[in-house]
Amino acid sequence: MAKLMTVITSTRPGRVGPKVAEWIDVAAREHGGFEEVELVDLAEVNLPMMDEPYHPRLRRYVHQHTKDWSATVGSADAFVFVTPEYNYGFTAPLKNAIDYLHGEWAYKPVGMVSYGGVAAGTRAVQMIKQVVTTLKMTPLSEAVSIPFVHSMIDEDDQLHPNDVMAAAAKAMFDELCRVSDALQPLRQTS
Ligand SMILES: Cc1cc2nc3c(=O)[nH]c(=O)nc-3n(C[C@H](O)[C@H](O)[C@H](O)COP(=O)(O)O)c2cc1C
Repeated sequence: MAKLMTVITSTRPGRVGPKVAEWIDVAAREHGGFEEVELVDLAEVNLPMMDEPYHPRLRRYVHQHTKDWSATVGSADAFVFVTPEYNYGFTAPLKNAIDYLHGEWAYKPVGMVSYGGVAAGTRAVQMIKQVVTTLKMTPLSEAVSIPFVHSMIDEDDQLHPNDVMAAAAKAMFDELCRVSDALQPLRQTS
């Protein structure tokens, strides 16, 4: 069974990312298909702009923050990126966090939970897919796309997910388990 890591990719004060991520993190635990489930917040990881002198594929990391991030990502078998859409793309903190590493991402599936206005963050998702395939990740078509996310948050700041979101999350988790298992031999030999 796989270890799943959910990553909160927006870092600004007042963001809604943690509300969406906390819901998906609980749903992942309730799914029961993962050996371990971890929630990682890029605001807490707090990486500076990429400052390693060597290409990440060499793993000659000189900074402790990179070694820590490498250990975090390396410990996971599958990912969920919780992503808003910023100007039709994904967030700069996510791109920075991806670029820090190389082999740690390889042969691991990633599901997307995106949110925003009418487009539900889907243009950001399309852009993420292009980047992660370069690192030999497998982005899944099963995804949770949340339109008008602010209308789902009440005056007490609580997110109210609907049945469509819950069903989409289950389908995504099922596929994350299947693909993670199928890619396991490649992770062992890389
Ligand atoms: C810099 C910036 C750019 C944005 N660009 C888009 C966009 O292109 N499409 C969209 O649907 N929403 C856009 N939004 C609105 C976001 O979907 C909304 O603010 C969402 O809450 C952002 O996620 P966050 O709260 O986790 O940061 C943008 C928001 C910000 C702050």
